[in-house]
Amino acid sequence: MNSSSDYKTVKYNYLIKNRKFTIMNVTRINSRSVKVLAVPVMCLILLILHFTSVCIHDHSDKPFKPFLCILDDIMISQNDITLDMPKEVKNVVPLWPNITKDKCIRNIKLKPRRMFTTHENYSFYACVERNSNVKRVVKDSINRFNLDKNIIISYFGIFKMRPAPTIIEIGGYLGVMMPKLMEATGAKHYVALEPVPSFYKNFTEKIKELQLYSTVKAYNFGLAVTQKELQIGIHSDATSLLKDKIGKDRKTETIKIYKVIDFFVQIGLGCNSLNLLTINCEGCEFDVIEMLTSTLLINNIEYIQFQPHRSVFSNDRVYICRYCRLRQLLARTHEIGYEFPNVWETWKRKDLVS
Ligand SMILES: *[C@@H]1O[C@H](CO)[C@@H](O)[C@H](O)[C@H]1NC(C)=O
Ligand SMILES: *[C@@H]1O[C@H](CO)[C@@H](O)[C@H](O)[C@H]1NC(C)=O
Ligand SMILES: *[C@@H]1O[C@H](CO)[C@@H](O)[C@H](O)[C@H]1NC(C)=O
Repeated sequence: MNSSSDYKTVKYNYLIKNRKFTIMNVTRINSRSVKVLAVPVMCLILLILHFTSVCIHDHSDKPFKPFLCILDDIMISQNDITLDMPKEVKNVVPLWPNITKDKCIRNIKLKPRRMFTTHENYSFYACVERNSNVKRVVKDSINRFNLDKNIIISYFGIFKMRPAPTIIEIGGYLGVMMPKLMEATGAKHYVALEPVPSFYKNFTEKIKELQLYSTVKAYNFGLAVTQKELQIGIHSDATSLLKDKIGKDRKTETIKIYKVIDFFVQIGLGCNSLNLLTINCEGCEFDVIEMLTSTLLINNIEYIQFQPHRSVFSNDRVYICRYCRLRQLLARTHEIGYEFPNVWETWKRKDLVS
């Protein structure tokens, strides 16, 4: 009986997430048991395939195909560092009481434009590779971040030891983070920018409600490389200055944007060191950090916390390149404090002990 069994090659083709897998399965056919075995064997094979497909989907990837990053240069000139700025920015009250009239403008030099060294280039492309499957990195980061969402606040408990902590928040939104940061840090001076008028209104109501007039100041504008006015659609907290597709029936508001450098000159960053710059501005983080890292202003910021926004880029590769360049530029003066790549991260100035 056994000797009469033959061998049959069964080919199963499965399409798993558009990728084709061919499984060769050599089954020994026993004429009598074949019918009895066929169903359980098929079930077993399907089960195994089910699990391997899950594994394949989760843990293996298309191999990384290196791509070169071609990004526009960051454009800034010494003429951009000036006291000649729009009235709205001139009206910003400096964060520190002892700022000189000239805002220490002679201290704010451009950093010499330096190409990445071989080591920086290596580290930059290592970042590009690490983040090439950006969706998965985001997923991993969010899973880890969900275990301790409070880190974006609690991390700065270290400021309790400082005499008069100073914080600038870009993208103040409704004033959700501000009271938490104030409490965790004991900040004495807090400035928030929120360009969307309706969000700004809620932010100022929060200041009133908590009676924080003497420590917290909010301004109703945003920051970018150049000054502009925009009409934007309001999508609650994902309202973006870069992604200004306005839906038909969506509410729109006009927002004002001023130059990154003007704001930081006026606030007095040329004369003093800021404890924390926290940025959650739906895309403007790139302009803000690129401008700051192009001047000596970056040396006057102890901690920079930001949320990078991939969603405002139409192309993941451009986003990845720009995100990794941002990190590499920050790495010249700062080092990682904590990081959930592509979700939230904090950089700490290299000279700081804590
Ligand atoms: C930087 O690294 C990339 C990828 O490893 C490489 O292709 C490129 O030639 C390097 N560029 C420089 C200027 O070293
Ligand atoms: C802003 O504040 C108003 C009044 O306190 C409130 O009704 C509204 O829901 C708030 N807006 C958002 C988006 O939470
Ligand atoms: C302002 O005061 C701070 C702290 O007291 C000091 O470090 C800084 O140099 C002063 N700046 C100016 C422009 O006097």
